[in-house]
Amino acid sequence: MTNTLAIDGGTPVRSRMLPFGEPFFDEAEIAEVVDTLKSGWVSTGPKTKKFEEEFAEYVGAKYAVGLNSCTAGLHLSLVVLGIGPGDEVIVPTLTFGATANVVEHVGARPVLVDVDATTLTIDPDAVERAITPRTKAIVPVHYGGMPCDLDALHALAKPRGIAIVEDAAHAIGTRYRGRTVGSISPLTNFSFYANKNLSTAEGGMVTTDDAALEEKLRVYHLHGLSRDAWKRYHTKEFSLSEVVVPGYKYNMTDLQASLGIHQLRKQEKFIARREEIASFYDEAFSELDGLVWTPPRPRDGSQGSPMNRNVLHLYPILVNVTDLNANRNQVISALLAENIGASMHFTPLNMMPYYRDTYGYKPHDFPNALRVGEREISLPIQPQITHSDARDVVDAVKKVLTAYRK
Ligand SMILES: Cc1ncc(COP(=O)(O)O)c(C=O)c1O
Repeated sequence: MTNTLAIDGGTPVRSRMLPFGEPFFDEAEIAEVVDTLKSGWVSTGPKTKKFEEEFAEYVGAKYAVGLNSCTAGLHLSLVVLGIGPGDEVIVPTLTFGATANVVEHVGARPVLVDVDATTLTIDPDAVERAITPRTKAIVPVHYGGMPCDLDALHALAKPRGIAIVEDAAHAIGTRYRGRTVGSISPLTNFSFYANKNLSTAEGGMVTTDDAALEEKLRVYHLHGLSRDAWKRYHTKEFSLSEVVVPGYKYNMTDLQASLGIHQLRKQEKFIARREEIASFYDEAFSELDGLVWTPPRPRDGSQGSPMNRNVLHLYPILVNVTDLNANRNQVISALLAENIGASMHFTPLNMMPYYRDTYGYKPHDFPNALRVGEREISLPIQPQITHSDARDVVDAVKKVLTAYRK
């Protein structure tokens, strides 16, 4: 390794790209997909049902409905709650577009709020200030797998009749005060997109303990039909299925569930490996005095918040751009040139053209999110990376930040 950055013509830390968030499938998933293909039933059927049941058990929810994405789940959640024009939904500005876009889809207004500077999750004080008589729901996002302060949010929401719809896209296995995310709020939505901790290529799941909500989710997720295809084809008696509401086409397929069943069984092992990699990064980056800040992570029994668990979907670092001769995007470009698949999460939604122009938001409206938006870099932390891969990540970060240090 030379000290000249690869972006300036030097030798990269690695000869091959270490991808960001590559999914991790093995023979179990492959065999299950082949079995499904040979079974003749590839769309929603017995494997989706099995995955739903095992997922509900893992998170401790009564019901889980398999979907084709987390975005579908977030949208359906607002639909089954009856949220629409004239209503407001509070969303953290530090999130993926889908969290707020679905609010627009039902004709309501997303009201953006800042995140806490330390946890990077929605700030309950900012939520309280944003509540109006029109507020119908709050959508907390467990950023990177870090649990939100759900007790504070429920304390604000419950007496006012406001619903909590969790965006748990990053948070399969996240625990908050001893409870697993998915068993805490009326509706919780998970993502199984390619780079998520549990991947079905594309997919999602919504969980609830409420039988009436589950019934509505089932009807709305498949065209608004009174009975789904699996039930229609596997009864002895012919019966018509009727459109009872104008529903959507959001169902999960058995091909996706074939991946999900096995990915779910490996989650605890995956999380343990993510924790090992994170501990290695923590220690290595503590040497970069002042150049890098990592959000403190709750661990079981630590940080005065027993039984909280961050499942480390992301390993975010905030680089101290004021001490560098480069901005965050230039640092990411330099890391990519070193063959480290670095990414970033997120540009705050108030700075995205649609939300900025529609509602007149300014970058400084949400200072904590702005700080993240200008400084955050997400490093590879998928469970299959080796110690040598993790060492390369550390070497590349140190090489790049040292070269750019003022
Ligand atoms: C916070 C958050 N919410 C929602 C989504 C949407 O998930 P999906 O791609 O499964 O619709 C994502 C996807 O990356 C996300 O990061």
